[in-house]
Amino acid sequence: MYSETGVTSAIELSQLYATLFAIREINDAGGIDGREVVPIRYDPQSDPVRYRALAERLILEDDVPVIFGCYMSSTRKAVLPIVERWNRLLFYATLYEGFEFSENLIYTGAAPNQNSVQLANFMTSQFGPRVYMVGSNYIYPYESNRIMSDLVMQRPGGAKLGERYVRLGATEMDFADVIEDIGKTRPDFIFSTVVGSATQHFYRAYARAGFDPTTMPIASLTTSEVEVAQMGAEIACGHITAAPYFRSIGSEANYACVEKFAQAFGPEVIPNASWEAAYFQVHLMARAMRAAGSADIEALMPQLLGSEFDAPQGRVRVDASTHHTWLHPRIGRVDRRGEFTIEQEAGAAVRPDPYLVAHALGDWSAR
Ligand code: ACM
Repeated sequence: MYSETGVTSAIELSQLYATLFAIREINDAGGIDGREVVPIRYDPQSDPVRYRALAERLILEDDVPVIFGCYMSSTRKAVLPIVERWNRLLFYATLYEGFEFSENLIYTGAAPNQNSVQLANFMTSQFGPRVYMVGSNYIYPYESNRIMSDLVMQRPGGAKLGERYVRLGATEMDFADVIEDIGKTRPDFIFSTVVGSATQHFYRAYARAGFDPTTMPIASLTTSEVEVAQMGAEIACGHITAAPYFRSIGSEANYACVEKFAQAFGPEVIPNASWEAAYFQVHLMARAMRAAGSADIEALMPQLLGSEFDAPQGRVRVDASTHHTWLHPRIGRVDRRGEFTIEQEAGAAVRPDPYLVAHALGDWSAR
């Protein structure tokens, strides 16, 4: 279930194609003990109500054992009670606000200790501790801003100068008041939790106001290569994102994966962190299914927990106690070509800490 239409369709389409790519690789290598993996695919249109209804249909009518999907946290929160009620497995490949656990979920996107902590550390040390927050109007931005506030306040002089929300699907006009307020308050940096199609409009409004990313950049966890392509390199240049994966990672494994994907699905689907997690989680599932000899959650879960995969970002591992994934935090800054230059990266995979039990700024190990 990845939205092929609606406000987050660009990023979710990349997740859909990453999933189909992994399924193709698995089937090309003989499937699961000779049996083909067959995807059943629905378009939930970026809408939590449709997500919930389609999850029920996948389980009750199509009898699928495993669901891959959801981008916005509002859609995951809609699907969660359904997979719990019918005891099926949901893989969620998107960075999110943390503070959640389910026996029926595996989380392969970044938890806040794998992106927010690093971003807060980088932004406050490079630009200063005064932040202005702009987000889309739903749960992930509220919660991610709460976490970012806590982190920024750890700095001397740390301050939140504004916290504003715009509707999903906002256009440039919707940001007029926010842009005016930013011009008045002059923060050290802006934290954007704007998602989907509105993202390009926010960065365009910023550029049109004549703001300068070298002194007051936008920092984000949700502005990926996909949104950068939508706004164009000139608008995006100089802005900053924290993620475990960027298309620009200079490893042979990443080059090979990106190249093979482009050959299979064309250059218009753009690799990004949510794409990468959507890709490697299908391989994690296939390995677990082979080892378990079954697709039932009771048989799969013991195989999944603790399992590892050499993903394009580096080796990842499913954490047995949290159901989240050990990942490799990175900070990227958009260059003139619209690619992320990696400014900082963790020396090793960082253990997920979805409840932020330990969240000291500057701690990139969290072991
Ligand atoms: C998100 O809603 N987890 C980006």
